[in-house]
Amino acid sequence: MSWLCGVVVSVALSVTGAAVDLTSPAVFNAIFYITANVEVWHAGARNVTSAKYHWLHHGIDEGLQACGSFHSAQYLRRHSDLEKAYGLKGYRQAIEHYLTNGLHEHRLGYLEGGYGGRWTVSDAHHRLFVSASARMGAAVDSLVWNNHEFINSWDHGRELQMAMNFIPHGECFNPTEAGGRDDSQTAVTNTHTQSVHASGITLSTTVLPAFWLRAVHAMPPTRHCRNGKSAMNTENTYRHPFSKKVTLQCPGVSQPCLHFRSTFTIAGTIPSYTTLQMEAPTGYLTGDFTVFRSFDHSSGHLVAYSARKPLVQSTHDDRFAMGVFSPPNQDTDEFMYYGKFQFPNKIDGAASNKWNVVYRKHTLPAGSTHVFNYDTYICVGTVNDVTACLKKLLQAHPSDLVG
Ligand SMILES: *[C@@H]1O[C@H](CO)[C@@H](O)[C@H](O)[C@H]1NC(C)=O
Repeated sequence: MSWLCGVVVSVALSVTGAAVDLTSPAVFNAIFYITANVEVWHAGARNVTSAKYHWLHHGIDEGLQACGSFHSAQYLRRHSDLEKAYGLKGYRQAIEHYLTNGLHEHRLGYLEGGYGGRWTVSDAHHRLFVSASARMGAAVDSLVWNNHEFINSWDHGRELQMAMNFIPHGECFNPTEAGGRDDSQTAVTNTHTQSVHASGITLSTTVLPAFWLRAVHAMPPTRHCRNGKSAMNTENTYRHPFSKKVTLQCPGVSQPCLHFRSTFTIAGTIPSYTTLQMEAPTGYLTGDFTVFRSFDHSSGHLVAYSARKPLVQSTHDDRFAMGVFSPPNQDTDEFMYYGKFQFPNKIDGAASNKWNVVYRKHTLPAGSTHVFNYDTYICVGTVNDVTACLKKLLQAHPSDLVG
């Protein structure tokens, strides 16, 4: 079976001649459609039903992108035979072509190097599609495997992203890769993107991250950071870079897998703190990823969640899963841990479940500059795929985890 989406739809079509389903998950995901296109949000289409309606009646013919792995406008530009046949605005025909033929022909539905404020990369087999957007400060806001969107990007605090805070200040001094709380559903972010390179299986970015909260003078007087305290940052954007290099290939692993290398710069004036906490990174997954387990290296099986063992987060039917492993011997003063959090919500798209990988350093000398790099491996697939992937990764790192 092909790993690309829509296969069943297009096979049925060639047999019966029935109309293609323009809301097939190969080309449309309602929540991606709303969050990646702020005009859809502002048009009032904010739930699955109204997003579908907007897509069928406006979005298709306007050439909007509605899925992380495919975009009609990029598909036409990528394949000159299609551009010749349908023209650069033959969006509807492009979608129909993709569903009936393009998927079988393994044609890709995105442009190398980025397009329209989005950058997409895929693994060597084109099974896994990872993309970042200008809207989210070049943070990863979509990961599609086997037709399924894994990432929640409802606002600028989610995504698959880096963040850091300084205990005990929490959100009061909290550089966040994708943007600040008050960036909310807007098209822009207080994160300043400095560079993005998307090519082949690799996405590299450098940004000056937004503080999660606006500087105190810029915050509405009714909004505080915590316990009635004011934000401690005096600007909306942290002046020092966060960089990442995401490679869709992990050493010795044949399953879909991301090697996520985070680079944090700590510099400038920071309110005095006891512990620097770096999330390298955090993954906010969609509401259906409700099951958390851990991988036990000695037995090779999944066990009840434990903060110190590689984490596996999945849908309840085990069809979609993400497994996270950070190799030992990285620069951390307190044990690295795997966190899990659940944020149920009845509103379409707003529910999220997250994991994070956390490293901690004790107080650094005031005014000094430090750069910390961390490697995290993120396996993707079914629960079985992810378990096999973690097994391979841990075999390659026999010293097991810290602690
Ligand atoms: C979806 O949004 C539309 C448009 O705002 C609204 O009329 C409808 O009631 C909403 N449906 C649900 C199930 O919330």
